Amino acid sequence: MIVCSCAYVTDRDLEQAVLEVMSQPNAPLPTPGVIYRHLQKKMQCCGCAPLAAETIYAKMEDLEKRGLICPCACATAKTRMKDIMSPPERRVSRTLREAPRALSQPAAARQKVTGSSGSSF
Ligand code: FES
Repeated sequence: MIVCSCAYVTDRDLEQAVLEVMSQPNAPLPTPGVIYRHLQKKMQCCGCAPLAAETIYAKMEDLEKRGLICPCACATAKTRMKDIMSPPERRVSRTLREAPRALSQPAAARQKVTGSSGSSF
């Protein structure tokens, strides 16, 4: 299957590149950019980027199931890629998410919880 028609990249090319990249010591995160660079290809219109990322994920899982890449390296890469590809609101730290809730509490409640008068600014 052709994944990228601009640079002519197939799913087999991606599989081979994922295998080679993930077999390196301290393997980099196999993003489409890393994989295309490994293939010495360059995206032009970038219309294939979502399909390329999806294919890379699928190939990683398949290679892991076949025992061709280290499950530990694969798990680390998947976790890092999930963080990168998650919606922005999921990446917001817990502190930032809870700050507006704490500020909307009445001053007396904040004082009880924090022990401050709330006017120490
Ligand atoms: S389809 Fe891949 S860069 Fe255009």
